[in-house]
Amino acid sequence: MISKKMTTALNAQVTAELYSSYLYVSMSAWLQAEGHQGAAHWMSLQAREEIYHVIKFYNFILDRGGQIRLGPIEAPPAKWKSALEVFEQAHAHEQKVTALIDSLMTLAKSESDHASEIFLQWFVTEQTEEEANTLATAQKYKLAAGQGAGLFMIDQELAARTLTVLVKDALTGVPPTAV
Ligand SMILES: [Fe+2]
Ligand SMILES: [Fe+2]
Repeated sequence: MISKKMTTALNAQVTAELYSSYLYVSMSAWLQAEGHQGAAHWMSLQAREEIYHVIKFYNFILDRGGQIRLGPIEAPPAKWKSALEVFEQAHAHEQKVTALIDSLMTLAKSESDHASEIFLQWFVTEQTEEEANTLATAQKYKLAAGQGAGLFMIDQELAARTLTVLVKDALTGVPPTAV
């Protein structure tokens, strides 16, 4: 049985992951409106990936006999100065999420909640990937320094993203169309 404290903390993470998705939808919309079609595509897949994170936490809470308590989700920002700023903020956001996962892990360890610890390990690894992806893209935009050809190349690269690996990794077996 999962503790009340851990259930509350995991429910807060469900809300945090929903906010991540909300933020990335907003970023995707801004990128699209500004003509960064590839980046908008990348960000909309990132928004969908966050929904998979929600589902993982949601299923884990229910599987352990906990109850789902959804909290309010604040409105994300809607405007950025550049695609570089979007990815810098996405990177900063992922660093914050990493800190949230770390404190969940600390709580699991303090409660000797081994099931939660093993479950959270996936997210510890995932956060390294999330930070690395957003950082690498921000660095590319920095190198392009707002120049047309560079921006076009980055956009083409981001346009190629797929969610294949994620679908294979999803614990739920729910196909993306059913999310
Ligand atoms: Fe996430
Ligand atoms: Fe990821």
